[in-house]
Formats: sequence, C-alpha cells, structure tokens
Amino acid sequence: MTPPPVVWPFFGLRLVAPTVELVYPDDAIAMAIARLGARGIHDPATMPFAVPWTRNKTPPELALSTMQNIWLERATATRLAWNASFAVVVAGEVVGRQDIQTLDFPIHRTVTSGSWIGQDYQGRGIGRAAREAILAFAFDGLDAAHARTGAFHDNPRSLAVSRRLGYVETGRTMLDREGVPTEHVDLAIDRAGWAAVERAPVAFVGLEPVRAHLGLGAAEHDRKQ
Ligand SMILES: CC(C)(COP(=O)(O)OP(=O)(O)OC[C@H]1O[C@@H](n2cnc3c(N)ncnc32)[C@H](O)[C@@H]1OP(=O)(O)O)[C@@H](O)C(=O)NCCC(=O)NCCS
Repeated sequence: MTPPPVVWPFFGLRLVAPTVELVYPDDAIAMAIARLGARGIHDPATMPFAVPWTRNKTPPELALSTMQNIWLERATATRLAWNASFAVVVAGEVVGRQDIQTLDFPIHRTVTSGSWIGQDYQGRGIGRAAREAILAFAFDGLDAAHARTGAFHDNPRSLAVSRRLGYVETGRTMLDREGVPTEHVDLAIDRAGWAAVERAPVAFVGLEPVRAHLGLGAAEHDRKQ
C-alpha cells in the first residue's frame, strides 16, 4: 500500500544540541513562543528589529501578531522560498525563537537567519547555541554554501554571537529605524568559515523528509553509506 503523503515534513524536525533544542513548532508550541514574546524581548528604549514589530502593541496583540506571523510564513512557503521558525527550547521550556529563511535555495544555497530570546533568558549563551544549531542545520543538514545575518550597530549581543560563530562583516547599510537613519551591520559566513568554527555537535531529527520535500535528495552522511 502506498504510504500516506507527509504533507508538511517540517513538523517532525528537531535540531538537538547539547544545551538547546530547536523544535519546529506545532500550534501549542507556537503559542508558547507567542506568549514568551509578549513577556518582553527588549528594552522599549531600543529597537533591535529592522521591522519594528514589537512597538505599540499590548502583550495580547504582540502574542497574536507572533502567532499570525508563524502561520503566515508557513502558509506562504514554497520549495524555493521558505521561512522556518523554530522554538528555542532549554530543559523543556520555550525560551526563544530562531528563524531561518531561504530564497531560491537550490540556486544560491544561501540562508539568512533571525532570532530573539525572551528577555528573562538573555545573556546566558542561549542565543549563541541556537544560532550555532541553525547554522549546523543550514551547512550540515541542507548543504548550504553561505549564511547571512545582520544587526544594528548598537546591538552588541547579536553582533557578538555572529562574530563568535565566524561570520565576517560584508558591509554596512543605513536603514530607516523608526524614522531615523541607522547603521546596520551585514555579516556572512561560508562553508570554509563554518568548518573552522569550534562548535558543539548537533543531531537532526526528521531531516530526510524535509530534504526530500525541498528536492535536496539524500543527505551527505546517507550517500556515503
Ligand atoms: C541577540 C540575542 C538573540 C542574543 O542571545 P543571548 O542569549 O542574549 O546571547 P548570548 O548570551 O548567547 O551571547 C551574547 C554575547 O554578547 C556578548 N555581549 C553581551 N553584552 C555585550 C556588550 N555590551 N558588548 C559586547 N558584547 C556583549 C556576550 O559576551 C556574548 O558573547 P560571547 O559568547 O562571545 O561572550 C538576544 O540577546 C536577543 O534576543 N536580543 C533582543 C532581540 C534581538 O536583538 N534579536 C536579534 C536582532 S538582529
């Protein structure tokens, strides 16, 4: 009998690192991400995001907009252009959100990423571990060639995470941050840079159905067997 179609293979995906797990969320986990974000992501005196989605919202509005954003990204994904939002989980608790985006991935083999950690959990190495896990997914899980990211010049934590993981600065652009031209630092890492990074092992659960869905074929470790 033909097995039933997987339909949305991301649901089985988990990236397991020694100190954090990135879990592709069902609605219950997505709601935990949304509720966490509503408790606070940054000092309101600052704005780390190029799109100031955290501004002028009550906590329930913020939670709803997070939930709708996760649904929107999922609903509009194609095989060529998709965004996967993962819950950052530590000791069974959702403590943040880590996203990875691609555009024409089979051609460019390039990913970008974005993330936030709940304010109560920042500065404990979780953001770095989450980014490391998403880079492992990109380079080792999906055979990416390049990963890009960026942060405003006055976001030292985000920039420190990127630099510690081997990204190099590729340029600076002025972005409109809530009406003020503000310097944004663009960074990138390639496979050689990633190979040189001292990093923790990351295990992928449910990777093969995702690779098949994206038309990527068998993973390197399977081809060698
Ligand atoms: C940016 C963010 C994801 C990082 O996650 P985190 O868990 O707080 O970060 P970590 O604890 O893993 O690492 C922080 C790094 O910043 C460094 N750091 C902290 N404050 C710093 C400062 N004032 N100047 C320089 N470096 C600083 C730490 O030393 C650490 O680097 P190290 O590992 O090389 O020592 C998180 O702080 C966050 O969500 N911030 C608000 C939202 C945001 O900025 N998102 C990213 C938008 S681009």
